[in-house]
Amino acid sequence: MHKVEAFDLVHRYRPVRVHNVEPDAAEVGRRLEDHPARRATVGQNERVDPLLESLLAAVAARPDDGPLRLHVAGLLLEAGHPEQALTHVSAVLAAAPTDRAALDLLTRASAALGGPPAADPQPTPAPAAGEFDWAAAESEVGDIVPPPFLDDPETGGYDVERPGLRLADVGGMESVKERLEAAFLLPLRNPELRKAYGKSLRGGLLLYGPPGCGKTYLARALAGELGARLLTVGLPDVLDMYVGQSEKNLHGIFEVARRAAPCVLFLDEVDALGQKRSLARGSAMRGAVNQLLVELDDVHAANEGVFVLAATNHPWDVDPALRRPGRLDRTVFVGPPDAPARAAILKVHLRDRPIAGVDLGRLAAESEGRSGADLAYVCETAAERAMVASARSGEVRPIGMPDLEAALAETRSSTGPWFEVARNVAEFGNDEGAYDELAAYLRTRRKR
Ligand SMILES: Nc1ncnc2c1ncn2[C@@H]1O[C@H](COP(=O)(O)OP(=O)(O)OP(=O)(O)O)[C@@H](O)[C@H]1O
Ligand SMILES: [Mg+2]
Repeated sequence: MHKVEAFDLVHRYRPVRVHNVEPDAAEVGRRLEDHPARRATVGQNERVDPLLESLLAAVAARPDDGPLRLHVAGLLLEAGHPEQALTHVSAVLAAAPTDRAALDLLTRASAALGGPPAADPQPTPAPAAGEFDWAAAESEVGDIVPPPFLDDPETGGYDVERPGLRLADVGGMESVKERLEAAFLLPLRNPELRKAYGKSLRGGLLLYGPPGCGKTYLARALAGELGARLLTVGLPDVLDMYVGQSEKNLHGIFEVARRAAPCVLFLDEVDALGQKRSLARGSAMRGAVNQLLVELDDVHAANEGVFVLAATNHPWDVDPALRRPGRLDRTVFVGPPDAPARAAILKVHLRDRPIAGVDLGRLAAESEGRSGADLAYVCETAAERAMVASARSGEVRPIGMPDLEAALAETRSSTGPWFEVARNVAEFGNDEGAYDELAAYLRTRRKR
């Protein structure tokens, strides 16, 4: 068989194998509980070279010798025993939590554990007679395997996904959901009503608000709600310094979206392209703005089933031409998450971590004004605290309220600077009422 044909066959029909690379929580617990002194030698059924064996015996004799342990851990890692290496590293860290060499080894050993197993304990069984040997075929064509998807004519190398997320997964933010329902979902779902009210489907929706407050998350939930595919494009990635290239890239993206219909085309950081044309220097940028206008005007003429969503942290930098009727003409303000949203966000970020006695309601009440990204950081910091405490005491303990509250006290809200600018815009730049929602939000914020 011709090599290319073989490659095609292998990649079209190869059954997908999913490696569960993350060790589950129980397994991690077991690993940590297993006291290093008791694990001075590697498991009996594993063969180790004699030098390593002598070194392991030396460790057993001098369990407090940190440098020796680290040396052995390094050798174990090289020999393909990251788990055993990790045991010794943990022992050193329990005594010296900030030891740089130990931390470095910890990172390497964890990475080795997370990656494909160095020594596969259960070798893939040889295929039964008559079955096609995928592994052999794959290694045969290995040298001509191009990176997957890059040349895919359907997606042009862009990431097209079908999110399983629904609006119900978005915690709280009821007023935003209502706006999305009225501006986007209701007219889409009810063509008859749309006709009766003379409402057209033209135009897209612009989500704006401070960073890290759920614009991208909402876009994914909207696509999921519609059962549509989602094509996410970061506009700064599309811009090209060469005259004409940005236009070509943009046109290509809209073409991909049309082919993938029904599809939500999500233009993230739209301000990068739609910057006011007076701000945009050079003709390259102007051409790109014009191209986006053409594509937006064209979407509904050329294709049913492409819905344009855009997001920005700087709506005031978005070219007004982009916001005229029929283009990104509806705006939705996505502000900092409210209390139910904060509880939902915290829950998401604590889901896969060991926790005990966490009162989400109390944390949500105490974290007013924090963004989704801030809350993710709070969980991260709390986990770090619990981990360091565990390493110090040699006893694993779950993340609790004291960790979370301390982390909350340490992290400041990152939305402050955004609101400074927004306040000016709402007061002095709200000529056409484009920022009414923002102004209303600011009024309620001031009252608190
Ligand atoms: N209402 C919510 N319910 C559940 N999770 C949320 C909610 N809002 C935000 N999140 C979480 O917060 C994280 C940050 O949100 P997201 O990335 O959507 O913010 P963004 O507004 O797009 O930020 P940026 O402006 O920086 O692009 C998300 O990964 C998501 O997990
Ligand atoms: Mg985003």
